[in-house]
Amino acid sequence: MQNIDNFNFAGKKAIVRVDFNVPLNEEGKITDDTRIRGALPTLKKVLAEGGALIIMSHMGKPKGKVNAKFSLSQIVDAVSEKLGVPVQFAPDCAKAAEAAAALKPGEVLLLENLRFYPEEEGKPVGIDKADPAYEEAKKAMKASQKEFAKTLASYADCYINDAFGTAHRKHASTAVIADYFDTDNKMLGYLMQKEVQAVDNVLSNIKRPFVAIMGGSKVSSKIGIIENLLGKVDKLILCGGMTYTFSKAHGGEIGNSIVEMDKLDVALGVEELAKKNGVELVLGSDCTATNGLDFGTMSVKEGAEIINCLSNEVPAGFEGVDAGVESQKAFAEAIEGAKTILWNGPAGVFECDAFTAGSRAIGEAIAKATAEGAFSLIGGGDSVACVNKFGLADQVSYISTGGGALLEAIEGKVLPGVAAIQG
Ligand code: 3PG
Repeated sequence: MQNIDNFNFAGKKAIVRVDFNVPLNEEGKITDDTRIRGALPTLKKVLAEGGALIIMSHMGKPKGKVNAKFSLSQIVDAVSEKLGVPVQFAPDCAKAAEAAAALKPGEVLLLENLRFYPEEEGKPVGIDKADPAYEEAKKAMKASQKEFAKTLASYADCYINDAFGTAHRKHASTAVIADYFDTDNKMLGYLMQKEVQAVDNVLSNIKRPFVAIMGGSKVSSKIGIIENLLGKVDKLILCGGMTYTFSKAHGGEIGNSIVEMDKLDVALGVEELAKKNGVELVLGSDCTATNGLDFGTMSVKEGAEIINCLSNEVPAGFEGVDAGVESQKAFAEAIEGAKTILWNGPAGVFECDAFTAGSRAIGEAIAKATAEGAFSLIGGGDSVACVNKFGLADQVSYISTGGGALLEAIEGKVLPGVAAIQG
């Protein structure tokens, strides 16, 4: 297997898959640049040795269609500034052959969002799985996905995958493209190596107590990792919007709080499994609720009320938007003394300044435990944004650029982006 350290990029063109799926505000400005900073060591190594860079990424979920909201043109200036060189932009990632061929050593070309082409994900569009023609459409799409990957590969002499955040996807640019480079000309980037190592550190050497904190709005999207963690951790804190699916499952009143009515049994199943495995499950007993959160502007509407109430007694017209005072204490207590910590998903709508307290309490407790010797791993865009927002980034052990990818790696799944290079 080729190693980025041993490869000499002088006079070569490297196509690098990065995960620049960064959060943007309404004006298209980057609100958290962790992922861009994460890819810099790899990108700078290529440039420093006299190589040329073709950088490719996805942004958001444009579902195979051009959508200005997800254009990577919005981040060209930020990437230029961080790399310290001007970055050219190819407005059509599949028609960039000329621009790539013209690149001189030290020059950089950023391709437009790969997911503007359905071939990137390789799923047939506009046809239902139940349609008898679906299988044919799938076959045809797989063939055009290969062509798409081959086109991208044709731009460069070597391929680097440094997109850990997207390593759990078997897409044209993360996996299929590797087939068009021989073993000596494809490799993992520094970020990818570092991330894989960090997961390995946690899994191969779990120091106890191991406390995981899972937040976010849906229990359904996290159920795989929650069940998996219930076989590994000593304590599991569940927070954020998923709290109300648990409250509802026990017949609680949750007002307008977010809930997955078809997952009440899943919530009860999680509680049973925790009991069976002897894992202490910590759910927030109270919450901060409001009757006036404007999700568009992430602010509380004028005249709206903010109250602290039990998570199973949220008044009609109100929705739970953050962990309450008692829950914050319970979370901090559960984290105290931990020796291994994994945090994924916020405890509330932290994007609104009025509802950061729950996530802040978790972040601060993690920082304290880390200072006392714990290894803390933070993953997922929102938790990372929290740690950055609260100024705690340098007080935790490791900040991952992966969300879903990190969770799948922790589950012990083979990541297609890694496998495509390592075989
Ligand atoms: C992420 O934000 O987790 C990665 O960029 C992957 O994005 P995806 O879930 O849309 O594939």
